Amino acid sequence: MPDRGRPVLEVRGLEATLTGRSGARVQAVRGVDFAVASGECLGVVGESGSGKTVTLLALLGLLPETAHWSGEVRFEGRDLLALPDPVRRRARGAGLGVVFQEPLSALNPVFSIGYQMMEPMRAHLGLTRRAAAARAAELLELVGIPEPGARLGDFPHQFSGGQLQRITIAMALACDPRVLIADEPTTALDVTVQAQILALIRRLRAELGMAVIWVTHDLGVVATLADRVLVMYAGRVIEQATTAELLGDPQHPYTRGLLAAALAPRAPRPRRLRPIPGHPPAVAPARGCSFRPRCAEALAQCAAREPPRIVIGPRRDVACFWDPATGGARDG
Ligand SMILES: Nc1ncnc2c1ncn2[C@@H]1O[C@H](COP(=O)(O)OP(=O)(O)OP(=O)(O)O)[C@@H](O)[C@H]1O
Ligand SMILES: [Mg+2]
Repeated sequence: MPDRGRPVLEVRGLEATLTGRSGARVQAVRGVDFAVASGECLGVVGESGSGKTVTLLALLGLLPETAHWSGEVRFEGRDLLALPDPVRRRARGAGLGVVFQEPLSALNPVFSIGYQMMEPMRAHLGLTRRAAAARAAELLELVGIPEPGARLGDFPHQFSGGQLQRITIAMALACDPRVLIADEPTTALDVTVQAQILALIRRLRAELGMAVIWVTHDLGVVATLADRVLVMYAGRVIEQATTAELLGDPQHPYTRGLLAAALAPRAPRPRRLRPIPGHPPAVAPARGCSFRPRCAEALAQCAAREPPRIVIGPRRDVACFWDPATGGARDG
């Protein structure tokens, strides 16, 4: 039986600075901490540019060479970022399934889909070619690719965008990962296919104790899939809570804005979260809270320093001085 409840992946003090095209440096990830346990699904939300993808790339050790990063990523007790490159790649290949935001970036145009699915299964699970082909076809069937056996020899350009996205999900599941890390994996899919994939992920969590980190803009997906949620803003985690707490009693003014917009009557379900006037900063301000310029609740201290993550319950914290219960400053 999978050991539920024990953290399988723990991220501590993750920082990442990237260099943009103009040469300007962007502090894309600033002190991100979280943990995910076997069988648990952690949803990650936040509007475009909040650092979700860079966080995932940093924890996988996949940032461009020009990036600077630091922090600790414990996967089943080992610090992934401290491992030499080939060892890290092996550990990642065997234990972490990753679905990238851009499906094409995960696929090689010159190899067939079958080959790209089967190679990792042969390397990490020791399957024969025949067994790997059978498993590849089965996985493609599970993600809704018609006639999967006949399509293993096809190349990426012979599939539609939505099919490629589903194929990358099948590939990420191929080696029975202990953690599935998925970056907006269902955005390009229609609702029925999305529901089918969410049901598959729920089943694998229950059956295999697979942990899941699921980045999405869709709060409906969060509500159906995630046990806990991280809300990111300007490279930081600004609120962390169980899904029920977050949806029922959001604390940060940013989270409250997101939810109010998503739940407003007749509001179209937002594909891109941008309900709060203004834009997230490309570079966090030197002083004070990075959300302050857009915040209707800002207090005097919000200009002076960035709020730390304040623990307000078991596994619940918020990086905000304002307390929605009183409308004033939080105690402590
Ligand atoms: N390769 C890169 N080089 C320089 N800056 C980058 C690079 N990739 C991302 N950034 C910057 O890092 C910040 C965080 O970007 P990131 O891609 O993590 O956002 P995101 O939350 O995943 O957004 P989205 O919802 O649009 O996918 C942004 O300011 C972005 O412009
Ligand atoms: Mg992204």
